[in-house]
Amino acid sequence: MNKKIPLFKVFMSKEIDQPLLEVLHSGWIGEGPIVEKFEETLRAYFGNKYLTTLNNGTAALHLAYHIAQYQDEYKSYRNNNQNEIISTPITCTATNTPIIATGAKIVWADVDPLTGNIDPKDIERKITKNTKAVVMVHWGGNPCLIDEINAIAKKHNIKTVEDGAHSMGMQYKGKMFGNFSDFSILSLQAIKHITSVDGGVLMLRSKKDYERAELLRWYGIDRTIREGIDLRCELDVVEAGYKFHMNDVCAVIGMINFKQLNEIVNAHRDNAKFYNEAFKTCSKIKVAPENPDGKSSYWLYTLHLNNRDEVMKKLGDAGIMASKVHARNDIHTMFKEFKADLPNAQKFNDTHLCIPVGWWVTKEDRQYIADKVIEFAK
Ligand SMILES: Cc1ncc(COP(=O)(O)O)c(C=O)c1O
Repeated sequence: MNKKIPLFKVFMSKEIDQPLLEVLHSGWIGEGPIVEKFEETLRAYFGNKYLTTLNNGTAALHLAYHIAQYQDEYKSYRNNNQNEIISTPITCTATNTPIIATGAKIVWADVDPLTGNIDPKDIERKITKNTKAVVMVHWGGNPCLIDEINAIAKKHNIKTVEDGAHSMGMQYKGKMFGNFSDFSILSLQAIKHITSVDGGVLMLRSKKDYERAELLRWYGIDRTIREGIDLRCELDVVEAGYKFHMNDVCAVIGMINFKQLNEIVNAHRDNAKFYNEAFKTCSKIKVAPENPDGKSSYWLYTLHLNNRDEVMKKLGDAGIMASKVHARNDIHTMFKEFKADLPNAQKFNDTHLCIPVGWWVTKEDRQYIADKVIEFAK
C-alpha cells in the first residue's frame, strides 16, 4: 500500500523565497512596514477596518476575552473572578484555555449533534448575571447560527466572540466573516488555509475596542511614532498588555500565501461538494450539514459513523489519514470545576470523523477516499 493521503498539508507559495529573503536581510524583522501592508490587504478583503494581526490565533482569543470582560476597567483583571464566558467543548483547547488565563469561569453550552456548532437555545439557558461573553466556534469553517446568537447576546447585553480559526474564506448571509460580532478571530497557523507559519487576526466591531487591542498587543504601549518622543521611555502605560504582535517575517509569508486564498478555498469546497454527492447514497454515513445561510470554508469535512473508530483505523491502513481532529475538551482535568451535562456534545464526539478535503486531494484521491468510507461504514 503506497498511497498516503494526508489530512492536513502546509501550503507554501512558490513565490515566497525572494520576498522572504528581502525581509530577512532588510534590517527590520520585527513588527514594521510589512505587518502594516498585510493588515491593509486583510482589511480590504474582510471589509473591516478594525483589524489587527497577532502572533497566533490563541493570542487573538486572549485579547478578545480580555477586552470583552474588562470594558472600562484598567485594573488587574486577576482580582475579578466572578466573570463567566459561555463556550463550546467541541473545539481545539485553544478556544478555552485563554478564558481561564483571563480569570473567567467557563460555562459550557451544548452543541448541535451533527455540525458540532454551539446551540443558541442552550446559550440562552446558561446566561447569568455574571455572563460577560459567549464564544462560538465555526467547526471546520461551517458558520454557526450567528444571527440567533448575536440576537440573544444583544438582549442580555453580553459580547460575542467568533472563533474562526478554521474559517478563512467563510461567508454568512452573503457577507464575509469578520463583520458580525464584537470580536472575530482567525488562525494563520501552519496547516490552516493560509499560513504565516504562526499568526492570528483579530477583527473588532468598535473603534474603542480596536484601539485598545492595538495597545494591548504590545505591552500596552502606543507604538505610533512621534517626533522627538522615545515611546518606550516617555509614554505612560495605562494598562498592562502582552507581547502578542505579529512580525514582518511572518507577515510576508502570510501576505504572499494570501494571494492564493481563492484557489485554496475553492479546492476545499469542490472536494466537499463531491463528497456530499458521493455519500448521499449511503444510509450508514451522516454528513455534517453546511449551514444553508452560509458558505463553509471546509477546512474540515466531517461525517458521522456508528463504527467511527473502526473506519478511522481501516482508512489509516488504506493510506488515508482520518481523525477526530478535536475531541470534547471539557473532560480535561484543567476544566473539571466547570463540569456540565452535554448530551449532544457526547453524541458528536462518539461518531464524528474528518476525512481529507483540502487543496492537495486530487480527483482520483477523493474518489478513492469516498469508495473506502462507503466500503467500511456499517
Ligand atoms: C478552533 C481553534 N481555535 C483556536 C486555535 C488557535 O489558533 P493558533 O494555533 O493560531 O493559536 C485553533 C488552532 O488550530 C483552533 O483550531
